[in-house]
Amino acid sequence: MVPLSEPWWKKSVVYQIYPRSFMDSNGDGIGDLQGIISKIPYLQRLGIDVIWLSPIYDSPNDDNGYDIRNYEAIMSEFGTMEDFDQLLEEAKKVGIRIVMDLVVNHTSDEHHWFIESRSSKDSQYRDYYIWREGNGELPPNNWESVFSGSAWEKEKNTNSYYLHLFSKKQPDLNWEHQPLRDDIYKMMSYWLDKGIGGFRMDVINFISKDSKLLDGKVYAGQLYGDGSPYYINGPNIHTYLQEMNAKVLSHYDVMTVGEMPGTSTDEAKIYTDPSNQEVNMIFTFEHMNIDHGPFEKWDIQPFNLVKLKKVLEKWQTALYNKGWNSLYWNNHDQPRVVSRFGCDDEKYREKSAKMLAICLHMLQGTPYIYQGEEFGMTNVKFKSIEDYRDIETLNMYKEKSNQGIPHKEILDSIYAAGRDNARTPMQWSTDGGFSTGTPWINMNPNTPKINAELALEDTSSIFYTYQKLIQLRKEHDIITYGRFQLLLANHVNLFVYKRIFEKQEWLVISNFSKETELLDLSCCKIQDYKFKVIIANYEDIKIEGNTLKVRPYEAFVLSFGRG
Ligand code: NOJ
Repeated sequence: MVPLSEPWWKKSVVYQIYPRSFMDSNGDGIGDLQGIISKIPYLQRLGIDVIWLSPIYDSPNDDNGYDIRNYEAIMSEFGTMEDFDQLLEEAKKVGIRIVMDLVVNHTSDEHHWFIESRSSKDSQYRDYYIWREGNGELPPNNWESVFSGSAWEKEKNTNSYYLHLFSKKQPDLNWEHQPLRDDIYKMMSYWLDKGIGGFRMDVINFISKDSKLLDGKVYAGQLYGDGSPYYINGPNIHTYLQEMNAKVLSHYDVMTVGEMPGTSTDEAKIYTDPSNQEVNMIFTFEHMNIDHGPFEKWDIQPFNLVKLKKVLEKWQTALYNKGWNSLYWNNHDQPRVVSRFGCDDEKYREKSAKMLAICLHMLQGTPYIYQGEEFGMTNVKFKSIEDYRDIETLNMYKEKSNQGIPHKEILDSIYAAGRDNARTPMQWSTDGGFSTGTPWINMNPNTPKINAELALEDTSSIFYTYQKLIQLRKEHDIITYGRFQLLLANHVNLFVYKRIFEKQEWLVISNFSKETELLDLSCCKIQDYKFKVIIANYEDIKIEGNTLKVRPYEAFVLSFGRG
């Protein structure tokens, strides 16, 4: 039985909007809030419940809004506070909640707190950031920034260094300082009082640093040390999240999702166990990192389905009845999954995209769809580094070029792993449809073939697979509450799992390859071979006797038993 008091976000599907690339209403080449408002009917048609808006706050855009200058103002390129209020209202009318991005590990160096903090050691805002004296001529420690280079920057005014785990225009906030925490909570209440649906919390498990700030280990071939053991899931993280919950979040009916790289399932259980009052769910990275090399994401490894299944199984079983999973393949930091994970983004693009959708949405957790995923947008290969915009990509390019790594080799890693793969503008129509001006980043040249307009016209398109998956979630409790069981863990091409709830069993089968595979149903421990097809990405199911024939990138869900 499903308890009556279950929270709404367990049955919700979230759609992530990266505003800069979603829809431009005024022809300046940059997506904006009025553009989003104009697409609410599209999102309503898809059937999603929640929009997660990547940052829309005032920002100098060193990291596309993840460097906030003013938490209570809207980025002028995106519109005004009136536009935001209108978006909230229009979305509410059709039952869509808006979840905001909460970026509080760092601000922009143009935030007034930092301007004052850097001005003098006596500033009342000095302790809002993390300042240290240098180690002779060297920075305070050897930590590397996530965006390459040292994580410390020397400030001339006071001749000391500030910590920036991301770009030097993103100084880290000092969460040990209570006045800073109180200011953050005030800001959160400002948005919650407007009626937003919750927060996605940017690298929230980085906010508590071990104050000793010890040197990190330097791995082979690396220039800097890995400080992450000293700032990921740091000493006071649970205290801060519980305080945030008690002082702010517990007063509202909202959802929270913590972006938490480097978090184990044991830690995730602590973060998401409802009795701990921290966050509702987290974004884990373990399944996204399976094709990364040991030290960095740019060192792409071949896709290994067995590894992916193992990781997902671990998360599905560890959090069952304890915490809650987020489910995602894509976001603004990840290359497009249809061009990744063994998939084929050309001949089998439609099949691959639907297979990935079915495979993910049948797991337990709250699914996130990233703009364009719903009609199979792919990675992009720009010819010149000049066409790229992402700070992480550009810094890495500079660093590796300086090390003498050939241009082509670096470009290949950008094609596979760069964040701009996800940031090319939404492909609304055959002629683009994103902007009447010149987009801030080029559109993917495959727009005439892959776009929302074509997808909407074709009732067998990827869009309608997503639409159906969202509907199924509303209709069948097994998707939300069923137990997960992995079958054929070592099969190299098939991902086969069961969901089990009351007297029902659903079998979910996905082929992550171009091979046709034969599957004997007897290995799936099914009692009764009579089944109903819940959803599929081919027109029929091929079965002879007890043997299923699973075609390239085929996926389907079979229901056995009652219901
Ligand atoms: C994670 C965000 O998703 C990413 O886009 C951003 O660059 C970093 N955090 C820093 O805010």
